[in-house]
Amino acid sequence: VRPDADWAREVRALADERDAVLLAHNYQLPEIQDVADHTGDSLALSRIAASSSASTIVFCGVHFMAETAKILGPEKTVLIPDERAGCSLADSITAEQLREWKAEHPGAVVVSYVNTTAEVKAETDICCTSSNAVDVVRSIPADREVLFCPDQFLGAHVKRETGRDNLHIWAGECHVHAGINGPELAERAAANPDADLFIHPECGCATSALYLAGEGIVEQERVKILSTGDMLTAARDTGARSVLVATEVGMLHQLRKAAPEIDFRAVNDRASCRYMKMITPAALLRCLREGADEVHVPTDVADRARASVERMIAIGK
Ligand code: 13P
Ligand code: SF4
Repeated sequence: VRPDADWAREVRALADERDAVLLAHNYQLPEIQDVADHTGDSLALSRIAASSSASTIVFCGVHFMAETAKILGPEKTVLIPDERAGCSLADSITAEQLREWKAEHPGAVVVSYVNTTAEVKAETDICCTSSNAVDVVRSIPADREVLFCPDQFLGAHVKRETGRDNLHIWAGECHVHAGINGPELAERAAANPDADLFIHPECGCATSALYLAGEGIVEQERVKILSTGDMLTAARDTGARSVLVATEVGMLHQLRKAAPEIDFRAVNDRASCRYMKMITPAALLRCLREGADEVHVPTDVADRARASVERMIAIGK
């Protein structure tokens, strides 16, 4: 299947026939982003899914994102073009492991990144995304213990920003972001002394970036730790002529569209998520023609998970 004008017309026509809204995450292939009704970060897409009047949501992203849309709108049909599109970060904690961790810290408030399964969300008090994780943790009274899972790098970022000692962090990671490492970032920053650094908090290099700034190797104001949605806002506001981007490479497409005059370069151009890239033009067409793959979340799990997801979409920008 070639993602040409005929393909885009057929996708749009089939979406209309199904009364479907097409949502695409910022890490999707450029042609999928361009054909979607909305492209955005995980928080923005969850909010759109919750407020959409369409009877069907086609989620071009990974499985936990489609599950989150289903939890928020159980009466809607939620489709994902390939149900095998998982997430190594979501796989780094199970509901059973979370239950055991909770038993070790009775009374603690559980904050889970949205990159988790529905079963883990059902054991969670408040979900968060990278754009509101700090606000979510700040919303919890200072004397309450917090269990933060599953991403250790986002957890370290939240701990730094909030200065909370009673925040315990699970040792999970995303294989794509963990692979964008400190030495690589230091090398790229040294070779591009005028570039801003846009760094996703899931990256293994986020701490190194702050170290580089602390040591005066990179100017403090050039280091920005941002969710994918916040990177787009920052791209429109920065005066920099070049930006080094530490996140999944799909992000470069929206950044270049938002600020064509800026030279955006990946810190690691092999940082591509194979799960995100399972949503191919052919898979999207098949999904719309056949109404598959449909995403189901057992009612009891969705009912227990809903409050934590609704808190997430209510907090922060
Ligand atoms: P955000 O779009 O919330 O920054 O999420 C990044 C991510 O890794 C999603 O898989
Ligand atoms: Fe999961 Fe990482 Fe892929 Fe995002 S980039 S979907 S966190 S594996």
